[in-house]
Amino acid sequence: MKNLGILISGRGSNFEAIARNVASGKIPARIVAVISNRAEARGLELAREMGLNARFIPSKGRPRDDFEGELRETLETLQTDLICLAGFMRVLSPEFVKQFPNRILNIHPSLLPAFPGMDAQKQALEHGVKMTGCTVHLVNEGVDSGPIVLQAAVPVLDEDTVETLSARILEQEHRIYPEAVRLLAEDRIQIDGRRVLLKKDSI
Ligand code: GAR
Repeated sequence: MKNLGILISGRGSNFEAIARNVASGKIPARIVAVISNRAEARGLELAREMGLNARFIPSKGRPRDDFEGELRETLETLQTDLICLAGFMRVLSPEFVKQFPNRILNIHPSLLPAFPGMDAQKQALEHGVKMTGCTVHLVNEGVDSGPIVLQAAVPVLDEDTVETLSARILEQEHRIYPEAVRLLAEDRIQIDGRRVLLKKDSI
């Protein structure tokens, strides 16, 4: 059974989707910590209500090394196998990422490699693409650039605003993020360069 650490900064709806799938037994793992770098994150409140180990580790006004040192120590003490970034709005340093090779997942609200970085849904609308979506990927040393585990496509409608488009993408996020976590928790993927493949012997 894998130990999951979930990192959030805000609303926490992706964390909630993962937690539901853990609670129902669909993801064979236990959540050892929900960590927010913002004290006011709604997701942190939610984690407390669920009786999970909810921690606030401040990042603001603090050297990055201090923040990441505390984060790393917390995750290591709890013997975290897999780290899920779920609306975690800080870029982790290459040094931090190296400590957890292929063990950090992120969800991003676009079909990467299109529209990395902030405001991906707004970027997609402004660019005029007809399809966008979401991506679960392994975190490497770049920004939103690691090997892709799962993606879901979402059409952009003429009447879409950033809000309506984001809401339709979010529905797909809540579907594919728990699915990707399950694949990793069950040790069902293999990594071949940039490609993430299902292991041959896995059904
Ligand atoms: C989600 O849409 C997630 O894809 C996005 O932030 C939102 C967090 O929502 N993440 C990024 O843009 C990362 N660059 P949540 O807190 O309700 O899960």
